[in-house]
Amino acid sequence: MSPPELPLVHEPDNFRRACDAARSSGARVGLVPTMGALHRGHAALIEEARRRAGFVAVSVFVNPTQFGPNEDFARYPRTLDADVDKCKAAGASIVFAPAADAMYPSGEETRVHVGATADPLCGAHRPGHFEGVTTIVAKLFALTGPCVAVFGRKDYQQLKVLTRMAADLFLPVEVVGLRTVREPDGLALSSRNAYLSPADREAALSIPRGLTLAWQAFAKGERNAGVLRGLARASVAPVATSIDYVDVADPETLRVLADGDTTKDRALVAIALRIGTTRLIDNVVLGEDPPCIASP
Ligand code: PAJ
Repeated sequence: MSPPELPLVHEPDNFRRACDAARSSGARVGLVPTMGALHRGHAALIEEARRRAGFVAVSVFVNPTQFGPNEDFARYPRTLDADVDKCKAAGASIVFAPAADAMYPSGEETRVHVGATADPLCGAHRPGHFEGVTTIVAKLFALTGPCVAVFGRKDYQQLKVLTRMAADLFLPVEVVGLRTVREPDGLALSSRNAYLSPADREAALSIPRGLTLAWQAFAKGERNAGVLRGLARASVAPVATSIDYVDVADPETLRVLADGDTTKDRALVAIALRIGTTRLIDNVVLGEDPPCIASP
């Protein structure tokens, strides 16, 4: 007998009913929101959700409102069939893949706005991005109902913004952050890595290398934000096509430290840059995360 098909639902109401039914039967519900083009990083989130919940929903939706007018919404990879297979292999119970007009029907006009946590770093370079993220995730939380939702620390600011939103709006959701999954050479897995040529990919390694240089300096006692930032920046500057930011920030408030500031016993180093036209982000929390490259 072949294994049963993984349910794939497109209609928000059907998705809500499936989550309600799972809870009625006594299961805890887990949710892993994604934009598809799934890789091992996403699989790790699904596996973590499965450890925490008996019924795990994965949403696959390339959310138009979080892309700026000149960003890669149109060319973002869409691979639903392969994604469903990967969800099943990782232990998902259902895949929710709505159409854009199901999530944003005609007449909708509500947006969720988070304050200062969403302002620096990517918030400063992608106007409206986090409002798009919080709006779609609030809609997904509303459809899923009480659940544990698992997000990656790869998008560290997104995780903090969504944690803030869930707390501020008393949403019945436990937000969990999971470590960044990396290639053996340290490159963080990303759906956007599919855009990189072999030469671009080599250039992209400057990101985990730069973060690891900062990590090593911090491990040896360096606490000057400017020195830590300079180490990461010097690694990426020669190969990046453009740099949005290389910043050292408070890992809770995300307030960016000035170069003369001294870090506390934990500090976020975050990078966003372009290699060619591909925008990549990565980060490490010094004093908490392991180094990005296994044996630096
Ligand atoms: P997407 O980029 O598809 O990422 C979905 C989830 O996978 C996010 O929580 C992200 O942090 C996590 N993720 C991506 N790469 C990872 C890696 N290398 N290791 C661990 N986790 C990783 O983030 C989004 O989609 C969207 O903004 C979304 C939250 C779905 C809202 O549209």
